[in-house]
Amino acid sequence: MDRRNFLKTGSVATVGTYFAGSVKTHLMAAPEAEPGKPIAASDNIQVALIGAGGQGQSDTKIAASIPGVKVVAVADCYNGCLDHAKELWGNDILATRDYNEILARKDVDAVVIGTPDHWHMQAAVDSLNAGKDVYCEKPMIHVYSDGPKIIDTWRKTNRIMQIGSQRVSSIVYLKAKELLAAGAIGKLNMVTVWYDRNSAQGAWQYTVPYDANTETCDWPRWLGTAPKIPFNGEHFFQWRKWKAYGSGVAGDLFVHLFSGVHLITDSKGPTRAQSTGGLRFWKDGRDVPDVMMSLYDYAPGFNLSVRTNFVDGGSESEGFVFTGSEGSMTIAGDTVSVARVPREKGPGVRVELYSLPIQKRMLEIYHEKYPITYPTGPIMEGEEKYVAPKGYSDHYHHIKNWTDAIRSREPVVEDPVFGFRAAGAALLSNVSYDSGKPAHWDPEGMRLI
Ligand SMILES: NC(=O)c1ccc[n+]([C@@H]2O[C@H](COP(=O)([O-])OP(=O)(O)OC[C@H]3O[C@@H](n4cnc5c(N)ncnc54)[C@H](O)[C@@H]3O)[C@@H](O)[C@H]2O)c1
Repeated sequence: MDRRNFLKTGSVATVGTYFAGSVKTHLMAAPEAEPGKPIAASDNIQVALIGAGGQGQSDTKIAASIPGVKVVAVADCYNGCLDHAKELWGNDILATRDYNEILARKDVDAVVIGTPDHWHMQAAVDSLNAGKDVYCEKPMIHVYSDGPKIIDTWRKTNRIMQIGSQRVSSIVYLKAKELLAAGAIGKLNMVTVWYDRNSAQGAWQYTVPYDANTETCDWPRWLGTAPKIPFNGEHFFQWRKWKAYGSGVAGDLFVHLFSGVHLITDSKGPTRAQSTGGLRFWKDGRDVPDVMMSLYDYAPGFNLSVRTNFVDGGSESEGFVFTGSEGSMTIAGDTVSVARVPREKGPGVRVELYSLPIQKRMLEIYHEKYPITYPTGPIMEGEEKYVAPKGYSDHYHHIKNWTDAIRSREPVVEDPVFGFRAAGAALLSNVSYDSGKPAHWDPEGMRLI
């Protein structure tokens, strides 16, 4: 397929094309909004939130903005979050520290799980067993054994379950998938990703509320199966810094990348990972590295490199580049762009080391085989860009995909098998980092080798 044709393919429509400098820029259409049809109160999807911190609140605010979705209950281990949930969704919601109270209620159809990672498996399994449909934040697993437990329960209970890597629903990623499949960059051989930060918030130093104590926080419940230690506000509110609750940069950031790569390349996962890194700057008691680099092998014949640097004094940046035999594709924020520099037809000729008569004759011989065409030199075909509309939210579409599936009982875009493959791939970085050796993974069977 030639370049002009691939630009016309695919289901992510464009609504306009313009030039930004020399870059041909296509504005993508937002997915169709649902036609406004009245939904009876009796037809509401009644949603509860388990884990009402940053992401749980964000997910649930979006769910509540979808017609026919009502928030009826919230569970959290900190009073400040429970009180705020009432401010957000009304005094009449059930606000409790014990999510089992929510799961016991027949009028709760579905739950959003926004707890720290070490609670994902138990909260998901309990919710599925209670007959609830589930939206569980990424990474789906905290440890590898969580994967089969969630998948088995999901299959047994036949519930709708979406994992929360919202970029899987992004029109930017879907366009990248179309472009790759249409041959826009030739055969993919490398994926390069980085997440570099240079701030305390970026390195998870979230503010501990002034009133955090054993009265306002349900510390034993929050700890769950994690090792029992005295109350510690940093552990409670900055949990990403400790392996007992999170999974370092791999579980927090790399998992988004793997969700995206698996979607865009139609891949089930890597076969091998090798990691390195260290704790260079944020020596604040954390037990995970603040600099990590990992290399991955994918069976279809590409390699992937990913890094996080929380000590990047140069800049804060994120990048996502797919390199192929005929071009490269970059995802940055709400855009995906393709750049192609066609390879020269001939192999080139090096003559300057030899005497002038030899140089002259060598050039003649070369040009007999590869005649000079004008203009000489590589032709830069330039860059082409696809931009999502202003205000576009993949997060909205990811949650909407889940609530639509709750009504239709059709599959979601990111089920627990997809979620385990993404998280399993991401956490390989930790396995390799901890052992100092390559880590091997069976992407089909979803198990460490
Ligand atoms: N999809 C994304 O882009 C994205 C972004 C941020 C966070 N996340 C994920 O969302 C999850 C939550 O992250 P966060 O930043 O919101 O954390 P957070 O600490 O702000 O919120 C977690 C909340 O869960 C509560 N909690 C803990 N154990 C509980 C239990 N047993 N029952 C009920 N509530 C419990 C805590 O009290 C806390 O308020 C993590 O898994 C994280 O990886 C995803």
